[in-house]
Amino acid sequence: MPKRNAVLSELGRRTGEPPIAWLMKLALDRPKLISLAAGFTDNPSLPVEATRELLEKILGSPKRGQSALQYGAGAGDADLRGLTVKRIVEQDGANPRSGAYAAERLVVTHGSQQFLYMVSEALFDPGDIVMVEDPTYFVYLGIAQSRGMQCRGVRMEADGIDLANLHRRLEELKKAGDLPRLKALYLVSYHQNPTGTTTSLAKKQEALGLLRRYENAAGHPIYLLEDAAYRELRFAGEDPPSALTLPGAEERVIYSGTYSKPFATGIRVGFGLAPEDLFPAIMRIKGNHDFGTSNLPQQILREALASGVYESHVQALRARYGIKARAMLGALRLHCADVAEWTEPRGGLNVWAKFPRRVATGLKSKLFAGTLERDVLYVPGQLCYADDSSRRKPNCEMRLSFGAASESRIREGIQRLGEAARAI
Ligand SMILES: Cc1ncc(COP(=O)(O)O)c(C=O)c1O
Repeated sequence: MPKRNAVLSELGRRTGEPPIAWLMKLALDRPKLISLAAGFTDNPSLPVEATRELLEKILGSPKRGQSALQYGAGAGDADLRGLTVKRIVEQDGANPRSGAYAAERLVVTHGSQQFLYMVSEALFDPGDIVMVEDPTYFVYLGIAQSRGMQCRGVRMEADGIDLANLHRRLEELKKAGDLPRLKALYLVSYHQNPTGTTTSLAKKQEALGLLRRYENAAGHPIYLLEDAAYRELRFAGEDPPSALTLPGAEERVIYSGTYSKPFATGIRVGFGLAPEDLFPAIMRIKGNHDFGTSNLPQQILREALASGVYESHVQALRARYGIKARAMLGALRLHCADVAEWTEPRGGLNVWAKFPRRVATGLKSKLFAGTLERDVLYVPGQLCYADDSSRRKPNCEMRLSFGAASESRIREGIQRLGEAARAI
């Protein structure tokens, strides 16, 4: 009997089941479950009416309709690329002529996930190293695992990565002769998934400076990969400029963004800007993936941006998530103050809660079982830590998302979480 696995490629064999798939399935299979886990967005605020009107406009004339239903350009719709760059320039308060914002180096992708995947394909061979925040976006860890990349975790502080720890980790790589395999530092810089933390511009600048100091020893550029997936979902505080504003950004900063969370996750349009040395390779890879993102969703976004529909939707969404975040934080204060501490995000979809060390939160823990028994689901913090043999993964944290559940279910879920924590 031939072995089934023998037919798979190394990548096929290596690629593990993404934990998010299991958590999402659990949430879908058990409608009673209050999911504070899966990364769905707020259903009632999805722009159904606005999208119907946009579609009517796009499909209103045969000429426009036909072009929207046809294949498009590999890098994406030219107008959408222009509008996207314009939006980032405005958010950054930057000079539109700065080379870091060249629309020719922006590609529209099937969600920013595809951009992150293509960047990883373009940069990393198996065994190559990416530095990540500790903890970080666990689906990116899935890409790294699947592609045989090694991760090195860099500790986090309240305003982003711990620069002293980054320095130390770079020195370790240098001493071990591993710098030639280090290609990038991946930062989820706005309202980070999972912790809610936003990285200050000063930290991004210092991090980029540090990376540059090690390039000689690496023998090649070391990129700063800035994932700004939650930038648009800010409901409080300031919006720090992106790393694209930094000196040298044009050559070293890769910027990943998305319209899927701020507009509609079902219209999966993302984008990325990459330096000149990297962009052609990414485009060749894109050619093999799909030679261009679906045109119709791009036309919807183009129309939404050009007409102002996008802006008003984002404004309303920010207010909505602000209310939901406050519902979660209020409930945590009421029901969990004696058992945990947590971050207070100013945007995004997540709160990061820490329990005392003796309270395990992992998939096999009593707390996970106890909350599930009470029909509540969270993301165990361990899933958000890279495999890195130089430290043990903390096992007393969790990601709590206020994205999908209603305010009343958020409150109920947190109350039950508190009960479960006190019961162990
Ligand atoms: C940090 C981060 N980056 C990227 C993505 C990918 O989102 P999308 O592909 O919908 O743009 C997500 C989705 O959850 C995310 O949390």
